[in-house]
Amino acid sequence: MITNEYLPFSSKVLKVTKHTPMEHTYTMEFAGAKDVVPGQFFELSLPKYGEAPISVSGIGENSVDLTVRSIGVVTDELFKYEAGRHLYIRGPYGNGFIADDYKDSELLVIAGGTGVSPVKAIIDYFGNHNDEVKSMSIITGFKSKDDQLFREDFKRWGKQMNVTLTFDRGDETKENIGLVTKYIPSVKVNNFDDAKAIVVGPPIMMKFAVKGLIERGYKEENIWISHERRMSCGLGKCGHCRVNSTYICLDGPVFNYTVGKDLID
Ligand SMILES: Cc1cc2nc3c(=O)[nH]c(=O)nc-3n(C[C@H](O)[C@H](O)[C@H](O)COP(=O)(O)OP(=O)(O)OC[C@H]3O[C@@H](n4cnc5c(N)ncnc54)[C@H](O)[C@@H]3O)c2cc1C
Ligand code: FES
Repeated sequence: MITNEYLPFSSKVLKVTKHTPMEHTYTMEFAGAKDVVPGQFFELSLPKYGEAPISVSGIGENSVDLTVRSIGVVTDELFKYEAGRHLYIRGPYGNGFIADDYKDSELLVIAGGTGVSPVKAIIDYFGNHNDEVKSMSIITGFKSKDDQLFREDFKRWGKQMNVTLTFDRGDETKENIGLVTKYIPSVKVNNFDDAKAIVVGPPIMMKFAVKGLIERGYKEENIWISHERRMSCGLGKCGHCRVNSTYICLDGPVFNYTVGKDLID
């Protein structure tokens, strides 16, 4: 059967989780999503308002979590939706993180702010399949303790992997204070041939985090990044996301650093 990837499907909002005290960020679980890979994204379609690409932050049996920051026309309207209501979504789009790329590695994930959302499902995957990696560490940064997302998940991750949670500002006697780059030298690595890293966040953060990794001994080909660029169609038709001959929506948003380094703004 020929399917039209461009066609949205009606999806029921199964659950809405508010990230208090960050009231401008919700995680919404949508029904009917199939064959989803961590790091992919969906287009949320609200008739009369428009569309917004949103990364997958969790994968259920027949559902998907999207963590949305309310900052404009579509996302503000979306915040009026409660569990039980239907809306149109289309996807999944993009390549995502392929678990096989990281198997048997000493895996480090570095993410900042809402950048934790696109890597959450891959962190969950290796948290639940610890035997598939030699070691698993994450370094995550938020502006302040009040800006921290996924608090319940962090409690679980703390038991499954090495977690460094840091804030740009706060009480140095109670928590890690400083940028994620400050903690790269502390990550335990046994063999840099096995050391792989995923870095997701604002372009400036990705740039300096990758620099820190390379200085530490990580190889460029063992580093992956994910790009968030303005998109429209989400599936390689409109050219909005194109950089030279690369379509971020189609060829990415996840790139090995050897390719992705030329796409950072
Ligand atoms: C691949 C991808 C994954 C994304 N994942 C997430 C996610 O998981 N959660 C999330 O909250 N957001 C995510 N975004 C960003 C999200 O798509 C935008 O915030 C959303 O489209 C805004 O739509 P709006 O109509 O509400 O805002 P608009 O009314 O269109 O814009 C409001 C403001 O946001 C700016 N803006 C809009 N889109 C972008 C963008 N892509 N980059 C920078 N500035 C922008 C506008 O310039 C304007 O200042 C992702 C974007 C991409 C491309
Ligand atoms: S968003 Fe249309 S081509 Fe990528």
